[in-house]
Amino acid sequence: MSVPSTEIESHAKSIKVAIVGAGSVGVTTAYALLLSHLAAEIVLIDIDKNRALGEVMDLSHAAHFAHAKVSVGEYENCAGATAVIITAGVNQKPGQTRMDLVKTNYGLFEQIVPQIAKHAPNTILIVATNPCDVLTKAAYELSGFPVQRVIGSGTAMDTTRFRHELGKHYGVNPRNVHAVIVGEHGDSQLPVWSLASIAGMRLEDYCKQKGIAYDEDAMDALSKRTREAAYEIIQRKGKTNYGVASVLVSILEPIITNADQLVTVSRVGDYAGVEGVALSMPCKLNSKGAHQDVELLLNEKEKEALRRSATSIKECFDTVAKRE
Ligand SMILES: NC(=O)c1ccc[n+]([C@@H]2O[C@H](COP(=O)([O-])OP(=O)(O)OC[C@H]3O[C@@H](n4cnc5c(N)ncnc54)[C@H](O)[C@@H]3O)[C@@H](O)[C@H]2O)c1
Repeated sequence: MSVPSTEIESHAKSIKVAIVGAGSVGVTTAYALLLSHLAAEIVLIDIDKNRALGEVMDLSHAAHFAHAKVSVGEYENCAGATAVIITAGVNQKPGQTRMDLVKTNYGLFEQIVPQIAKHAPNTILIVATNPCDVLTKAAYELSGFPVQRVIGSGTAMDTTRFRHELGKHYGVNPRNVHAVIVGEHGDSQLPVWSLASIAGMRLEDYCKQKGIAYDEDAMDALSKRTREAAYEIIQRKGKTNYGVASVLVSILEPIITNADQLVTVSRVGDYAGVEGVALSMPCKLNSKGAHQDVELLLNEKEKEALRRSATSIKECFDTVAKRE
């Protein structure tokens, strides 16, 4: 967290955040948000009210130390929320791709999003439910909100994992690695190698300066580990929750503090010649939402990979939303 705590606490006084879906991702996000002191009020909404109530009873004991209010709510309690995070949905099973989830979760969004939009017409929607990019576009259409106010957590998670892997490989703190994963939060995501840098130097130059070999096979293995991290974790513990919860709070922070911070999140736009698709690119996040104020300088190979990623997300959306 980069903003000083007194500054955060003065923002927090008026901040309400609603979380729809009080499952693993939703409650871990609520807990991370409590500990961040970014919000004064957190509302949990779930179709399973008893589960949500149990979680709120437990969380409210943690809230005692964080001086925030946590409650179970209905959609009308989204009114006045700075942001509404959607984590409701069916989870990925071992061996299942994110795209397999799409039909069920699209159906849930048809019920959930119009109700949020009705009660919180000025809020910022943050979508975590998978497949994140397809559902970000669904949330955009179902809410009628402007593009900047419908944000998918997208590859913010993958970018964090990628920087973690690169930091480990080169023996530097991941915060000092500048590298992004763009495109789909899923199998067609792409690491932008041409722009990856450490200490202001592209990776090949950094290696040359250090007198070490730039190991392309190691880089391929590292990006594969990034892409497959969720599958690996799900195979072992059945879900992922801590990483994504921290990422969701890191998306909320620049929104709440109006910080103009660049984060790779998903947003509807035109990418690599594919129109009206949601995917991740670095966006400037502030209190008005996510803004694409600069186009990433990709090489031809990367542009082609981005076009493939955009096309596959669009085809999935068009199939589920019956546009074909
Ligand atoms: N974007 C990411 O990086 C990321 C990471 C992890 C998980 N996810 C996704 O987040 C979603 C949730 O995962 P989870 O592990 O928390 O699942 P979970 O099963 O633990 O929780 C889902 C919750 O949604 C609720 N729900 C279902 N239908 C609802 C409805 N119509 N209205 C309100 N609530 C409803 C369920 O009752 C449940 O409490 C999944 O789609 C998963 O794939 C995304």
